[in-house]
Amino acid sequence: MIDQKTLDKIELEALKRNIPVMQKEGLDFMISLLNEEKAATLLEIGSAIGYSAMRLVTNVDQMKVETIELDDERYQEAKENIEKYKLQNQIYLHHDNALTFDESQLVLKSFDALFIDAAKAQYQRFFEKYIPYIKEDGIVIVDNLDFHGMVDHIEEIRSRNTRQLVKKIKRFRDWIFDHELYDAHYYPVGDGIVVVKRKEKE
Ligand SMILES: C[S@@+](CC[C@H](N)C(=O)[O-])C[C@H]1O[C@@H](n2cnc3c(N)ncnc32)[C@H](O)[C@@H]1O
Repeated sequence: MIDQKTLDKIELEALKRNIPVMQKEGLDFMISLLNEEKAATLLEIGSAIGYSAMRLVTNVDQMKVETIELDDERYQEAKENIEKYKLQNQIYLHHDNALTFDESQLVLKSFDALFIDAAKAQYQRFFEKYIPYIKEDGIVIVDNLDFHGMVDHIEEIRSRNTRQLVKKIKRFRDWIFDHELYDAHYYPVGDGIVVVKRKEKE
């Protein structure tokens, strides 16, 4: 078990070390949404040091999180955190590239929610790869869709690399909002969150 004060400390330490953990406002929004939806299983793409996963299992009723992290050091730290706070029965961590991860390794098999919080240029690929594992009435939560307000002002971005990345985020936003199978809602919380649900069949 882990308490809120310890979670606050982990968040602060992560920010000091430039580890990009989800903003508090965004996580609080997710916690309310997941409690409302009575979601009990969530697949997270991008664990970093396990902070969001620990916050979620601590604050969402009956929540279990399965999460994938590519980076060696962050994976190792996430593993240590999960063991330290004895959360192995609530958080299942994988050390892999989520783009090539073998889905037969998933412990929970199907999920009430998918949370995409990894490489921003790959959002669509993550979405398409993992949506089959999300229940019919499940939700997908995607963070950082404002990219610090830049998505709506691409022409003002000087750095070519940043401009390319922001264009990809915008492409994902346009793709999901126009999709015939999904309803997407934008929330101006944290760095811009989009919540996606399957459209009801007629
Ligand atoms: C924004 S951080 C995740 C923060 C975490 N969800 C939290 O709020 O505590 C994004 C993480 O995704 C990881 N990542 C990037 N590309 C990935 C991939 N293809 N597969 C798995 N993880 C990836 C990065 O190493 C990084 O640690």
